[in-house]
Amino acid sequence: MIQETIVTTVDAADQVHIAPMGIHIEADGISILPFKPSKTLDNILATGVAVINHCDDVRVFAGCLTGRRDWPVTPAKTITGVYLTATLAHVEVSLQRMADDQLRPTLFCKAVHTVNHRPFQGFNRAQFAVLEAAILISRLDRLPWQKIESELDYLRIGFEKTAGSKEREAWQWLMDEIDSYRLKAATS
Ligand SMILES: Cc1cc2nc3c(=O)[nH]c(=O)nc-3n(C[C@H](O)[C@H](O)[C@H](O)COP(=O)(O)O)c2cc1C
Repeated sequence: MIQETIVTTVDAADQVHIAPMGIHIEADGISILPFKPSKTLDNILATGVAVINHCDDVRVFAGCLTGRRDWPVTPAKTITGVYLTATLAHVEVSLQRMADDQLRPTLFCKAVHTVNHRPFQGFNRAQFAVLEAAILISRLDRLPWQKIESELDYLRIGFEKTAGSKEREAWQWLMDEIDSYRLKAATS
């Protein structure tokens, strides 16, 4: 199973890096698969650790994709790292081994400490819509406009019916990003 999470890492100089990543949950551990080049990959290779954040504030996902990476963090409990202060739960992981690949290596990790901070509030279609739109934006240079527009039209239906203020803020950041990309493409 793949879960959409926020991975927080630090570099050798303790500089925090925050990135959305779909992590693979397997019977014997957790795998992180960053596309090269990746700051997350560099940091995990440098420190041997990472934090997986199960976060329902979708502004963090949309924010990271639109240049807003400065989210409040708190020191991790058992490793050198940080978790998102707003996360519902976090898992501190240590790197066990890497299967290298030119495009997308697999980092096999083991959970060493898990904390539940607040309860899961249930599923929300607007949060799903924001995640899907954020993924579309991470692939703007590879997808035809027609596909982007038709997927956004579909996502907008559930979004409009169920969004709260955080989801609306996140959605607006993503739509602004698409508009500026479209404008740039039209003028170049
Ligand atoms: C929901 C979601 C899931 C993502 N999953 C991955 C992933 O598994 N691997 C990856 O390399 N990028 C993924 N991305 C894109 C990265 O977050 C983005 O490209 C980021 O900048 C990764 O590079 P970095 O480690 O240098 O920050 C995802 C984006 C979103 C919105």
